[in-house]
Amino acid sequence: MILAITNQKGGVGKTTTAINLSAALASKGLRTLLIDLDPQANSSMSFLDKHALPRSMYDVLVDRSASIREIIRPAEKVPNLSVAPSSIALAKIESKLLGEIDSHYRLKDVIEPIIQEFDFIVLDTPPTLGIITVNALVASTHVMIPIQSSYFALEGTDDLLETIDKIKQRANPQLQILGAVITLHDKRTLLSRDIVDQIRRVFGDKLFETMITKSVRLEESPAYKESIFTFAPRSSGAYEYYKLSEEVLSRV
Ligand SMILES: Nc1ncnc2c1ncn2[C@@H]1O[C@H](COP(=O)(O)OP(=O)(O)O)[C@@H](O)[C@H]1O
Ligand SMILES: [Mg+2]
Repeated sequence: MILAITNQKGGVGKTTTAINLSAALASKGLRTLLIDLDPQANSSMSFLDKHALPRSMYDVLVDRSASIREIIRPAEKVPNLSVAPSSIALAKIESKLLGEIDSHYRLKDVIEPIIQEFDFIVLDTPPTLGIITVNALVASTHVMIPIQSSYFALEGTDDLLETIDKIKQRANPQLQILGAVITLHDKRTLLSRDIVDQIRRVFGDKLFETMITKSVRLEESPAYKESIFTFAPRSSGAYEYYKLSEEVLSRV
């Protein structure tokens, strides 16, 4: 199972979801690989010592002779979790791959040789619908869409769903939407209940029952380079991401 966490909006909880969902799956004993495709590299930094990373997904995507095995590292402190790190260089990959005939298939080819070594591969993606996100959607079996509980929650969703449809038509007919997950939810406000209804109208039963509420612990955990399960194991965020992982497993 290869799961892309995608939404071209920034700040909607993609990285937070990628980090904590990966950690939850690994804690269940599933061999999990987190591939960081966001140039900001926050997923990588949560689990790896940055100074020990000479090469990244950038090198592997640009240089056909490089193997992803050379960059995969075991996550510090999380058994069963491995990470393929990103780097800021990924921000310039668009121009590098421009005009290459296989530019949308690079990631698919890169992970092909290692798929059997993992039960779960999770892809964190950048906040654009550019070449990296397209590579992620072409390489994935499933996509998860984090949606921030806010007044403009659904803005841009049309473009995302259209891109997913286009990719299904040609490059990756197997691609399925696993579900949408509401993030940064605030249970207390009436507005957020309205927003949840709105999102449910678009996604129907694809909307995960688990919602990730806004919490200080979730906001703080990346700064301490930890998943929520080691940083604040009794917090609402730990509970919710664990529940989300159970729902994910029940859908595959
Ligand atoms: N449930 C949450 N509660 C509080 N802060 C959160 C929550 N989820 C994410 N954040 C914070 O919001 C910001 C954006 O989240 P992030 O996961 O980086 O989004 P994206 O990857 O989509 O840009 C980060 O500072 C993150 O720590
Ligand atoms: Mg991110």
